[in-house]
Amino acid sequence: MTQSSTVPLASASSSSAESSPPGRGHGLDIEGITHRFGDVTVLNQIHLQVNPGEFVALLGPSGCGKTTILRLVAGLLTPTVGQIRIDGQRVEHVPTHKRNVGIVFQNYALFPHMNVFDNVAYGLRAQGAKTTNVRSRVQDMLELVQLEVMGDRFPNELSGGQQQRIALARALAVEPRILLLDEPFSALDKNLRLDMQIEVKRLLTEQGITTMFVTHDQEEALSMADRIAVMSNGVVQQFDTPTTVYDRPSTLFVSQFVGTTNLISGTLIQHNRESCVVSLADGEQMQLAIDPDMPINSPVQLAIRPENLRLSTEPSPNALPVRVDICLPLGAATIYEVRTASGIPIKVTQPRGIGVKSLVPGQTVYLTLASAHACSIFHVSDTDPSV
Ligand SMILES: Nc1ncnc2c1ncn2[C@@H]1O[C@H](COP(=O)(O)OP(=O)(O)O)[C@@H](O)[C@H]1O
Ligand SMILES: [Mg+2]
Repeated sequence: MTQSSTVPLASASSSSAESSPPGRGHGLDIEGITHRFGDVTVLNQIHLQVNPGEFVALLGPSGCGKTTILRLVAGLLTPTVGQIRIDGQRVEHVPTHKRNVGIVFQNYALFPHMNVFDNVAYGLRAQGAKTTNVRSRVQDMLELVQLEVMGDRFPNELSGGQQQRIALARALAVEPRILLLDEPFSALDKNLRLDMQIEVKRLLTEQGITTMFVTHDQEEALSMADRIAVMSNGVVQQFDTPTTVYDRPSTLFVSQFVGTTNLISGTLIQHNRESCVVSLADGEQMQLAIDPDMPINSPVQLAIRPENLRLSTEPSPNALPVRVDICLPLGAATIYEVRTASGIPIKVTQPRGIGVKSLVPGQTVYLTLASAHACSIFHVSDTDPSV
């Protein structure tokens, strides 16, 4: 990414930002975007409708096309096919400096030869704002990111977290209609990252700023976003709230990429309107309270989160006998790895409380689902080859 593309993308005329009441946010629609670099299709039929004031995360592995989406919205690239609208107006052919979109990249890229004040003032001056207005706006922005006493410092006199807050202040100074954040915290160490995540989320929610946020870190996406678009190979696999993405992954890829999941292969041998039976290796059977829309004898993958399984020392109908292999007491929870009679390993997380007796390796116990909806079932032809 070049230095020039990391500056706030100021509007030549700030009238659109000034005419809208602060805190309302602006809508962003990405409609049927396909993007090719030469012969290579890196985005395929992307549809994302971002509501005014919403905080949306683009989550996916490296190379899946997240940054390309931000560059298209910012106007650093023109889509091969499709439309981008801000507040309903098409912008694919509006130049970058007229889109009024703010962008913050991973490496913050403050101008090293300018002090903090001048860095934050950069976009305002580029817009031709009056000196007195620049001064008060920069002061407001520095107060917003709680660095009002740092105006005279140079970037190399700031910590990584402070530099990132200044980069954010610089992007927000020009009142962008849309804020784009590309892995903004990935260069920060873990504790600082958490502080910044909380602070930035609070700040942007208070200001009602429509934000598109790129990350490859599923925890960051789950904790910060109003909605998450989970991507792989240039395709949006699911666009939904964090809890829905986690609890109801729509594809095998999503179930694996977001959170920890047990994947268990089997064959669908029975189903009716309320339940189905899946035969695992060696004929072990699991009865599930779901009615998958697929024919009998379909090869399937079950995706079950470790916390959605229960272990009991007492047998019960539908319980699968398993043997405890490994027991890891991790503070609040214990993680067990158990094996079925045919050797399929399954991870189970159980809350650990005072008086709850740990299971021991070698012990035979009985595995059940915590609830009827604790399992997702996918036809194996749904398998994304990139998984
Ligand atoms: N300017 C470019 N020319 C050719 N290929 C590119 C260019 N920019 C990105 N790509 C390719 O497009 C794909 C998506 O890249 P990118 O959007 O940066 O992914 P992400 O941000 O999810 O890691 C990658 O395969 C990358 O190599
Ligand atoms: Mg990227």
